[in-house]
Amino acid sequence: MSKYIIEGSNKLAGEITVRGAKNSVLPILAASILNNNMNIIFNIPDISDLKVMVKILKAIGCKVSVVENIVTIDSRNLDTVRIPEELVREMRSSIILMGAMLSRAGEVEVSYPGGCEIGVRPIDFHLKALKQLGAEIEESHGFIYCKGKNLKGADIQLDYPSVGATENIMLASIRAKGTTFIRNAAREPEIIDLENFLNAIGGKVYGAGTSVIRIDGVDSLSSVEHTIIPDRIVTGTYMVASAITKGEIILKNIQVEHIQSIIAKLRETGCSIYNNCTTLKIIGPKNISPIESLQTMPYPGVPTDMQAQMMALLTLSNGTSVVSETIFENRFKHVSELVRMGANIRILGNVAVIKGVGELTGAKVTAKDLRGGAALVLAGLAAEGTTIVDNISHIDRGYEKLEQNLLSIGANIRRTNKQLLAAY
Ligand code: UD1
Repeated sequence: MSKYIIEGSNKLAGEITVRGAKNSVLPILAASILNNNMNIIFNIPDISDLKVMVKILKAIGCKVSVVENIVTIDSRNLDTVRIPEELVREMRSSIILMGAMLSRAGEVEVSYPGGCEIGVRPIDFHLKALKQLGAEIEESHGFIYCKGKNLKGADIQLDYPSVGATENIMLASIRAKGTTFIRNAAREPEIIDLENFLNAIGGKVYGAGTSVIRIDGVDSLSSVEHTIIPDRIVTGTYMVASAITKGEIILKNIQVEHIQSIIAKLRETGCSIYNNCTTLKIIGPKNISPIESLQTMPYPGVPTDMQAQMMALLTLSNGTSVVSETIFENRFKHVSELVRMGANIRILGNVAVIKGVGELTGAKVTAKDLRGGAALVLAGLAAEGTTIVDNISHIDRGYEKLEQNLLSIGANIRRTNKQLLAAY
C-alpha cells in the first residue's frame, strides 16, 4: 500500500489550478445514463472514485472513454439493471445510480451500501422518496430491488437536507408523470450543477440552490456537453495548506462564491485572502488565531468535508478552538492521529476542543478516511521532521495529483510504492 513521506516546515508558495468537483462529477456521471444518448463532460478530476464510477457505467453497458480531463459516455445501450456489488462496496455514493436507473430502465438492483468510514450513512430518505414516486422496493439479503416503470410526480418533504437523497430524487423524477417537489432540499452548489446538467439534456428542473426544487417530468432527453464546477473542498484544502505553512498560494479555476464559509473561517485564523470570482490568493498568518466556534452545517454553512483540515490548522493556533461536527457521527477519526503528532485535542461527543500547541512533530500516522487523510498531509506539511501517512488510497479517492501539486509549490512530499493508478 502506498504511503506519503513528508518532510515538514517548508513554506509553500505558487499556483495551483483546481479541477472539477468529485461530488458533482459522480452524480452527473450517474445522470448520463438518463438520456440514452451521448454525453461529453469536461473538467473531470483524475481521482479514484471517478474510476469506480466509470467501471460501473461500463459494467452496465455504457461505452465510456476518458481523454485527459474529458469523459465521453455513450448511454444508448444498457445490458443490465444490476449494479455490481463489489463496485458499490468500493464507492458508497454509487447509490446515486438508483434514481437514474429507475428513470431510465424502470428497475434497478443494488447491494445495500452499509456503513462507511465516517458513520452509518443510512439511505432511508432515498428509499422513502422513491416509494413516494411510485417505486416498489424490496430489501432482502443485503440487496435492494426497485421497480417502477411509471413513476409519478410527488410532493416530497425531506427530514434533513440530504445531498444524496436530493440528487436521487432529481434523477428519478426527471421523466416521471407530472410535477415533483423536493422540500427541505439540499442547497449545495453540486445540486445546482446537477440541475444545469439535467436541464441541458432537456429536463425541466427549477429551484436548485434553494430549499424547494421543482421537477416537471419530460418525455425525452437529448445529448449534452457539460463542464463540471470546480471542487470547493479541494480549494479549501489547498487554502489550509497555505495557512498552515505561512505560505502564499494562488488558486485558479475556482468559484469564490462556493467557498465563502471557508474564507470567513480562515480569515478568523488571521489569513489574508484576496480574490476575484475565479482566482484567489491566500497568505498564511504569522500567528494562527483560534476559532471560538466552528460548526459544520449544510451549505452555505462550513462543510463537514472541511472539518478535519480546519482542525489540523487549529492544532497550531495560539489559543483554544471548539469544533462541532453536526452532520456525521463518526468524523473525528483523524483526531487520534493528530494527537500522535503532538496535537492537544479532547473529544466530548460531537465536539472537539483543540488547544493550540507550539509545534507538531512528524510521526507515522494512518489515513482513516478521505478528508481526515488530507488533514494528516496538511499537518505533516507543517510538522517538524518526517511524517509518514499510511493508507493514502483514501486520499486518492478525492484529490487529483496531490503530491505533484504540493511539490510544485515547494513541499517536500513523495509517494512510496508508486502503484500505477488504475487505468480507466
Ligand atoms: C454528501 C457528499 C459527502 C459530504 C456530504 C455532506 C457526495 C457523493 N457525498 O454525502 O462528501 O460529506 O454530502 O455534505 O456528494 N441521512 C439520513 N438518511 C438518509 C440520507 C442521509 O439519515 O437517507 C443523514 C446522514 O446520516 C447525515 C446527513 O443526513 O447525517 C447528511 O447526509 P447526506 O447529505 O445525505 O450526505 P451524502 O449525500 O451521503
